[in-house]
Amino acid sequence: MRVVQLNNAIEVQDVDLENDADCIELGKLVAKECVLVVKQKISEQRLFEIHGLWGQPCKAILHRYVGEQRLTGKHWRSLLANLSHVSKGVDHIADRSGMSRVSFEKNEKGKPMGVFTNGKLDWHSDQQAYHDNQRIVGLMSLWGSVNSQTSFLCTAPAYEALSNEDRSMVDELVSVWEWDGGSMSEELIESQKEIVHYNMVPYPLMECPLLDETVTGVKGIRFPSHCFSHFKGMSKGESMKIKDYLWSILNKPEYIYTHDWQDGEVVFMDQNITLHARPTNVQDGDTRTMCRMISYLDNLYSDCGPLDHVLYNGNKLDHETFAKMVDEQRLAEYYPKAA
Ligand SMILES: [Fe+2]
Repeated sequence: MRVVQLNNAIEVQDVDLENDADCIELGKLVAKECVLVVKQKISEQRLFEIHGLWGQPCKAILHRYVGEQRLTGKHWRSLLANLSHVSKGVDHIADRSGMSRVSFEKNEKGKPMGVFTNGKLDWHSDQQAYHDNQRIVGLMSLWGSVNSQTSFLCTAPAYEALSNEDRSMVDELVSVWEWDGGSMSEELIESQKEIVHYNMVPYPLMECPLLDETVTGVKGIRFPSHCFSHFKGMSKGESMKIKDYLWSILNKPEYIYTHDWQDGEVVFMDQNITLHARPTNVQDGDTRTMCRMISYLDNLYSDCGPLDHVLYNGNKLDHETFAKMVDEQRLAEYYPKAA
């Protein structure tokens, strides 16, 4: 196994992704390095298995509750249908928990099969409002990926380089979130917005500390790129000033790795202190199809599995209570006159 240093990322060469022992080493590496590139073609089944060596699959709470029909009713029907639509592409895998198609092909009715349309995507991370142990996304190019890019920004070196004053500020701040209607891409269609909404910020006033870390203790910033409301105890105006200031520190070429995709490659990336974005608008390449798997690392690092609560308005809510709150909110939106 040979590690090549990229710009705030690594590429691992001479690794056999069909070999479990090699893949376990990769899991330990990504837990420290945050962004890890492997230029090797594997099947979607194998991507699923690699993540299975590392830990439990991860699904956003609301996606899980609706997918498992623990939340039901007319008001959830469209989300249930949309979630099944985006996982259809990988349905040759019996258990596809945690797996989805990210980009798109269109089905026979002209509806994109993926979570996003093919425009640019602003900086984000998966379930960014949800405080949780470290999760890793494996993003794999299947076909049509040439001429498209994904950018990655691991915040660890920037956090390390902060002044003492800035670091104490980051260590203390708590981000408060609110769904913003889907500003990460202007081109999301309604069904995709619904999926992203219940992935990212299902309920207003969710909160999480700005400081986060990997399972190996690498500290960084859970930067609130969008759907950010304010920092706890601070006005919106003051919060935005701090957010912009922090972004001016993070958004530097030395911290950003941009991957030029070829088909048959995988980038494994942390979701807790690392952002990613799609800088290219792949309008001309509407066959671009990527596969995505997400998991924890709790098989490699014990006690680092999914947390059992949501941070909301100064409280820790168990999942059941939180899901019930979201259900009531959704019901009131669905039947506005009755509310
Ligand atoms: Fe993403």
